[in-house]
Amino acid sequence: MVGGQAGADVAAFLELEGVSKAYGALRVIDDLSVRLDAGEALGVVGPNGAGKTTMLQLAAGQLRPDAGRVRLEGRDVTDLPTRTRCQLGMAFTHQVPRPFVGMTVYENVLVGATFGRTGGVRGDGDPHQASLAAMEAVELAGRANRLAGTLPLLELKRLELARALATGPRVLLLDEIAGGLTEAEVHQLVATIRRLRGAGVSIVWIEHIVHALLSVVDRIVAINFGRKLIEGDPRTVMASPEVRDVYLGSEAGLQQGPPATGSPVIPEESG
Ligand SMILES: Nc1ncnc2c1ncn2[C@@H]1O[C@H](COP(=O)(O)OP(=O)(O)O)[C@@H](O)[C@H]1O
Ligand SMILES: [Mg+2]
Repeated sequence: MVGGQAGADVAAFLELEGVSKAYGALRVIDDLSVRLDAGEALGVVGPNGAGKTTMLQLAAGQLRPDAGRVRLEGRDVTDLPTRTRCQLGMAFTHQVPRPFVGMTVYENVLVGATFGRTGGVRGDGDPHQASLAAMEAVELAGRANRLAGTLPLLELKRLELARALATGPRVLLLDEIAGGLTEAEVHQLVATIRRLRGAGVSIVWIEHIVHALLSVVDRIVAINFGRKLIEGDPRTVMASPEVRDVYLGSEAGLQQGPPATGSPVIPEESG
């Protein structure tokens, strides 16, 4: 499917246009517009509570915006449920991995492959094969029969990726997938994500670990209070006064390089 209407500007691959979301009086996302081009990798930064996870949930469909539209290849998906968006090619990973702990790695991935594809417009391939390919792509093939509840953190993160990949996504929405990993593990996960990227998957990646983002993304958007602060070239954005300002005094802060102690900054859970 090629997006856009004849005669219109080339449609963004994924676009949030003027979206807003409030909880009572709390405006979590405030007239935010973000676009992702096909094949692009976009990084998202912002302090805890900035609205990053909410932004991804609006894109993926777990939340509906109070105002604004969400489009995938020019098609308005604002009122479509997560499952339908998944079948159209969007998949996300959770900030905190949530596998079915009593099921094996393979079974967990098969759930993604089955429910993300069945009945969808992209009902190509069979779930078993898709699951094997997804485990292979994230280097979990050797763990297929292990109970998910027994996996160490890096492999739980890989399982999150595999579950998303098994749905055959064209865009992956990653929510702090490198959070909590050691420096060496971050590098391993980055290598995996770069390979996925090389295979043509578009990516939106929320992450506090700056060097991980910089080694993958083409562009970064910084948000705070649900509004866009600045976007553009990754290094320019990260060096900007706008980004420096919001992180001064921020509890989580940004992790620029290898942590001195060997244990990374683990961003607080919020939302
Ligand atoms: N279901 C909810 N009900 C009320 N407030 C929420 C809910 N989800 C998120 N929030 C609030 O919205 C703000 C943004 O949350 P979130 O998108 O998780 O931020 P981030 O991912 O940038 O840390 C926070 O202040 C959070 O407490
Ligand atoms: Mg978050």
